[in-house]
Amino acid sequence: MDCGFRLRFMGRYVCFSNRLAELGKLLEMARRGLSVPLVVYGPEGCGKTSLLRYLYRELAGLYDYVVYYSPIHGADEGLISAEDVKKAVVSLARVIGGELVTAVAEAVLALGEVFAKRLGVRRAGSIAILLDDVFQAVGNVELYVKKALTAMEHPPLEVDRTFMLIASSKGASLEAVGRHLWTNIKTLWNLDREGFEELVKQIEGLDADQLWRATGGNPRAVELLSDEAWSEEEVVEKMYKARKVDMELLSKHRDAVEEAVADPDSLSKAPEELTRHLISKNLVIRIIDPLRPVEKSRELGVGEEYAWQTPLHRKVVELALRRLHSG
Ligand SMILES: Nc1ncnc2c1ncn2[C@@H]1O[C@H](COP(=O)(O)OP(=O)(O)OP(=O)(O)O)[C@@H](O)[C@H]1O
Ligand SMILES: [Mg+2]
Repeated sequence: MDCGFRLRFMGRYVCFSNRLAELGKLLEMARRGLSVPLVVYGPEGCGKTSLLRYLYRELAGLYDYVVYYSPIHGADEGLISAEDVKKAVVSLARVIGGELVTAVAEAVLALGEVFAKRLGVRRAGSIAILLDDVFQAVGNVELYVKKALTAMEHPPLEVDRTFMLIASSKGASLEAVGRHLWTNIKTLWNLDREGFEELVKQIEGLDADQLWRATGGNPRAVELLSDEAWSEEEVVEKMYKARKVDMELLSKHRDAVEEAVADPDSLSKAPEELTRHLISKNLVIRIIDPLRPVEKSRELGVGEEYAWQTPLHRKVVELALRRLHSG
């Protein structure tokens, strides 16, 4: 736990909870430098933004230039870097044109050009770029990652070491990225038991055991439950309504869905259209080369290759199955 880095959780400030294994791995990669962009994919609300912001601070001591960008937080608030770099990136984004939040996502990839042409820097030493949720803002994910790769392979100025991390929870985008050899994909899973306990024990009155079983270590799921007065049914019902699961598809593959509820790894043999649908609706995730080993758990719905994003996500599909039976 690091109380030098505070985060908002359940409407109050908490200390950054243990992500030691993931940070160790990422820092080891950062020390070496990367040749292709690293795409970190994980369940919604598992803590990607928190980890990236923490990593920004850690990388500041290792890299000459570090830039973090999240279009969700806007072109100004979402862009964190040294002031001159920030100004130059935004000014290039204005030249690119179109919606500013999207243009900044493009301009960040042209950082080499920003240094060479706008800041008069010929040798940049080391550059680290952390991109959060950019796939939500850019139209063509494949083109974007190809540009990211080109920026790393053919920088327009001399760079000794680069590190580029793109975080996403968008299931559909992973498929687009996974088709090519343009990135290195890794999974960031929910908090582990120890980190989760560190987090929830900072708030009085929370039952860590019970919340672990309900959320599988996903901090956002705890917040959602708390906002619904701890009613799992309410949260699940809302998620079910918001996700618009394809009931026809579920009905067509009812047996395979039931098997997946019992064991997500059965999805490796399930009809592809079903697996793809569950991934694109952010219900299920494919675990790829995780940043820390993900512990298999039948109770939490975590397999070796596939996992329910949280037990609540699995309950959404269980609810859909019940509606099918009653409908
Ligand atoms: N390591 C951590 N320590 C303390 N709080 C955390 C940690 N990780 C996440 N949180 C808290 O959990 C909540 C969700 O985290 P965060 O926003 O980082 O998730 P995310 O994966 O980026 O979500 P999304 O998929 O919506 O982008 C936030 O309130 C955040 O402050
Ligand atoms: Mg986020």
